[in-house]
Amino acid sequence: MPPHDPDLPFIRPVEPADLDAIVALERRCFDRDTQTRRSLRYLLTRANAINLAAECDGRLTGYLTLLLRRGAQAARVYSIAVDPAARGRGLAGQLLHAAEAHATRRDCNRMVCEVRASNQTSLALFTSHGYQRKRDLPAYYPGGEDGVRLEKRLT
Ligand SMILES: CC(C)(COP(=O)(O)OP(=O)(O)OC[C@H]1O[C@@H](n2cnc3c(N)ncnc32)[C@H](O)[C@@H]1OP(=O)(O)O)[C@@H](O)C(=O)NCCC(=O)NCCS
Repeated sequence: MPPHDPDLPFIRPVEPADLDAIVALERRCFDRDTQTRRSLRYLLTRANAINLAAECDGRLTGYLTLLLRRGAQAARVYSIAVDPAARGRGLAGQLLHAAEAHATRRDCNRMVCEVRASNQTSLALFTSHGYQRKRDLPAYYPGGEDGVRLEKRLT
């Protein structure tokens, strides 16, 4: 296999050493719903989760956390974020695609996620990748904002 071109983004598993970069990325990407360092460390190291990083030019520019439950066939996209400077180039789509492949290998038959009803970018991301709105979630978020549950069947 030829060596990877460092200027092109690639998707890899998150490593414990990525924690600082992910904490910083969260702060750049979310003005609310920011996860604490403690809960991120838990998700990255102990939870029944698959954590993927998008790396470009040696920098972590995006990440996705997929939660799995023993015996459950639904994998849940718990978090996805891409650095503001790297948006609109398909990185989130690549992360989603890789997560779906992992979920399939773990015998899941569908992906689910919840999104704030006001998060048009995120809704567009998921629907453009085949996720369908399953139901509205009234007052799902702290502060009372509605959520939307989306789902995609894996083949
Ligand atoms: C949502 C987010 C992860 C998208 O990252 P991204 O790498 O820019 O997304 P992509 O380039 O892969 O875009 C995929 C699709 O999303 C949609 N999209 C992306 N940016 C968009 C924008 N600014 N406006 C509208 N739609 C947009 C498009 O439908 C695009 O599909 P296309 O490739 O067919 O045009 C990024 O905006 C982000 O980190 N936002 C803040 C954190 C967040 O809200 N996370 C989701 C919480 S559920």
